[in-house]
Amino acid sequence: MSVPLLVSGSANRALAEALAQQLGQRLAAASVSPFPDGELEVRLEEDVRERDVFVVQPTTAPVGERLLELALWVDAARRSGARRVTAVIPYFGYARQDRRESGKEPLGARVVADLLTAAGVHRVLAVDLHSTAVEACFRAPLTQVSAVEALAAKLGRGERRVVVSPDLGGVKLAERYAQLLDAPVAVVHKHRLSATEVAAAAVVGEVRGRSPVVVDDMLSTGGTMAAAVQALQNAGCHPNITLAVTHGLFVGPAVERLSKLPLRRVLTTDTVPTPAGVALPLEVVSVAPVLAAAVRQLSA
Ligand code: R5P
Repeated sequence: MSVPLLVSGSANRALAEALAQQLGQRLAAASVSPFPDGELEVRLEEDVRERDVFVVQPTTAPVGERLLELALWVDAARRSGARRVTAVIPYFGYARQDRRESGKEPLGARVVADLLTAAGVHRVLAVDLHSTAVEACFRAPLTQVSAVEALAAKLGRGERRVVVSPDLGGVKLAERYAQLLDAPVAVVHKHRLSATEVAAAAVVGEVRGRSPVVVDDMLSTGGTMAAAVQALQNAGCHPNITLAVTHGLFVGPAVERLSKLPLRRVLTTDTVPTPAGVALPLEVVSVAPVLAAAVRQLSA
């Protein structure tokens, strides 16, 4: 087994440190700073020759910059003689652009994959990808791990629950939670009105008097969750409402929107830094253990 060398990008150092701790390692000495004109200077401050390098960088906002920084780290490690370079992308941005709706848009997920491939990435490790189609965008092997089991364990036991998918695309994910929580599934029909606005039409499944656990891979502006909660209330659910998402981006109006909802618990993970001091009943589960297990396996 080779000893993994962890490099943290600037997007989520806390998670990289938690991962290093799980592995009994330290983070490699490395620095990133902007040049005066806005370009990024990334620099490995130690020898990575023949090492199995893992660069930890979720592609959170500003997404383009995080992504380019990741590509620069991969290139730096490869050109410095690393034996293998794995991009650990706890949250993989552009995964929602996994197909062309009208034939006039790019295949964003493929463009991201091509950028990382061109930089020389050997492998990718990601958590709960929005779409499994992302794997097909890479020539390099992609390993996906999941936070669902850890989130379900944190949810614990509950009376008369129903696991709810806020849209049709999330039904498989809801079924995984439902199996772990031993609860039935319901689905909300969602129509996206704009990038931040969502309307929910009908709820399919029995939710009356039940405590909903609304699950999704990600929460961005909160529009999807707000619409789902409204639809569930209209359908007579119990007011004990919980949200569980792997990637809590909380962008734009999300916190304000969600703080107006009668939420008992909001569970998410540390794939991206979570907002501090917000008026939400937030509970954060770390993905460091599940990533550490994957890193151990990949460097065996
Ligand atoms: C979409 O299919 C995803 O699974 C999420 O439902 C969506 O990205 C959430 O976005 P927002 O919070 O902005 O509604």
